[in-house]
Amino acid sequence: MSNTTTPALRPNNSLFSSGPCSKRPGWSLDNLSDAPLGRSHRAKIGKAKLKAAIDQTREILGVPDDYRIGIVPASDTGAVEMALWSILGARGTDILVWESFGAGWATDVVKQLKLDDVRVMEAEYGDLPDLGAVDFSRDVVFTWNGTTSGVCVPNGDWIAADREGLTICDATSAAFAQDLDWDKLDVVTYSWQKVLGGEAAHGMLILSPRAVERLESYTPAWPLPKIFRLTKGGKLIEGVFVGETINTPSMLCVEDYLDALAWAKEIGGLDALMNRANSNLAVLETWADKTSWVDFLAKDKANRSNTSVCMTIVDEAVVALDADLQAKFAKGLVSRLEKEGVAFDIGAYRDAPSGLRIWAGATIEASDLEALTAWLDWAFEAEKAAL
Ligand SMILES: Cc1ncc(COP(=O)(O)O)c(C=O)c1O
Repeated sequence: MSNTTTPALRPNNSLFSSGPCSKRPGWSLDNLSDAPLGRSHRAKIGKAKLKAAIDQTREILGVPDDYRIGIVPASDTGAVEMALWSILGARGTDILVWESFGAGWATDVVKQLKLDDVRVMEAEYGDLPDLGAVDFSRDVVFTWNGTTSGVCVPNGDWIAADREGLTICDATSAAFAQDLDWDKLDVVTYSWQKVLGGEAAHGMLILSPRAVERLESYTPAWPLPKIFRLTKGGKLIEGVFVGETINTPSMLCVEDYLDALAWAKEIGGLDALMNRANSNLAVLETWADKTSWVDFLAKDKANRSNTSVCMTIVDEAVVALDADLQAKFAKGLVSRLEKEGVAFDIGAYRDAPSGLRIWAGATIEASDLEALTAWLDWAFEAEKAAL
């Protein structure tokens, strides 16, 4: 189906970026007026806010009682790096790579930490590596949802329940949208600006009892900067997991995260959040099914992300172009929509194959995606006419 006339309906909200993601419906700066600005984060009120962020995270995400939840520096990247540098090296490591964020963690482990017993298990954009080849006697590093390819693991069934190694999972585009299998995860990280549409700031680091055991029994051979240190004298620094952050957080961002969590609770918690993302993906699937020029980058429907939805242009005339021209075509389409003010930031990630990346997480309204699809057809036709 094509649509050459300008669509009548515009999305109410044109923000479809994959991070920072759109704020929740109804968000307003006024909702942050309770932020204890200008106060110490170590004052009673600051600590109470940080503790509330931890407690409400546990409630909404369904984190088991015996897992620690910490608020740590430098967003998701900080949380992942902390885990990699503090935990790895005690045994061999398997790293799963199928897009650019996983590739970044592999680079860290191989080129920076220079661990000698590492297996990097790779797949191309659109695929997952062979999950059955992972050896759970080793530590395993993976990204639950590959934000730049729109491919996620389907569930945690492939992870051994009786593993000897630890699983370290970057879940930043998955948390609050996909069902994280806590029993199978030892370290989970994410940042506030993704599915809940919070402000980017500190990161979240969630540890299983076995991860804590590792931290308390293993000292890496390399030095750890202060912002990575989770133990003191061989004991976990428990304060980090009740809101005594290592360094200063933005209390405005904390307030915004609390606002996002309150919204999540109000609409029905994790199930409601996951349903919203699933319904959003369904809108794009319905459109893709009837649209011959577009397809999902994820080859297997079971691994298709319901947050960072990555799509490629499969129109014959476009596919016949060389890679640079294909990328130019996709960029042209994206910039037409931006110029019209109907969609911002929906181009594929810089290291990914050219195409579209449309955020479909919980803060997005299905009706806005519905409206967007007509505009995508419009922009495609306009771009093709200009070929
Ligand atoms: C899978 C994944 N990992 C890590 C990051 C980096 O997150 P942050 O910018 O919160 O450090 C991102 C950001 O998009 C991501 O999608």
